[in-house]
Amino acid sequence: MHRTLILVKPDGVARNLVGECLASFEKAGMHITSLKMMTMSREMAERFYAVHRERPFYNELITYITSGPIVAGILEGVGAIRRTRRVMGDTDPNEAAPGTIRFAYGETIRRNTVHGSDSEDSAIREIGIVFGEDPT
Ligand code: RTP
Ligand code: MG
Repeated sequence: MHRTLILVKPDGVARNLVGECLASFEKAGMHITSLKMMTMSREMAERFYAVHRERPFYNELITYITSGPIVAGILEGVGAIRRTRRVMGDTDPNEAAPGTIRFAYGETIRRNTVHGSDSEDSAIREIGIVFGEDPT
């Protein structure tokens, strides 16, 4: 059993896609164990996306992710990290496979509707940042 952190990003919440996104994860066999709605502070966003600090898109990413409410969740299931990312599709909606959330709803490479942790270490770190708990 594995755990991962997902976000429905501001573009998803603004377009009433919270239910659709969560349903996609549940249909893929993931079990939701925690959920919360919040607007990320700049400080939390900078910690969350610290790995991207040197990337050219960093400032726009921080502005975007703090621009409105998001829904954060912890998903549990076999192969949760890999399976969740498969349901999300490629970062760039133009590259995302049919049937994925980003294919259906992603607007741009930045406004791509959902986030999912990309490794076990990321999941532990991100769950700690957003839910303030040690998931081990
Ligand atoms: P995420 O972290 O949100 O699940 O997405 P990801 O792993 O598929 O993509 P990652 O490389 O971790 O990038 C994090 C987020 O930064 C924004 N981004 N903008 N060229 C750009 O303008 C650009 N590239 C990435 C996206 O919101 C991406 O999800
Ligand atoms: Mg990522």
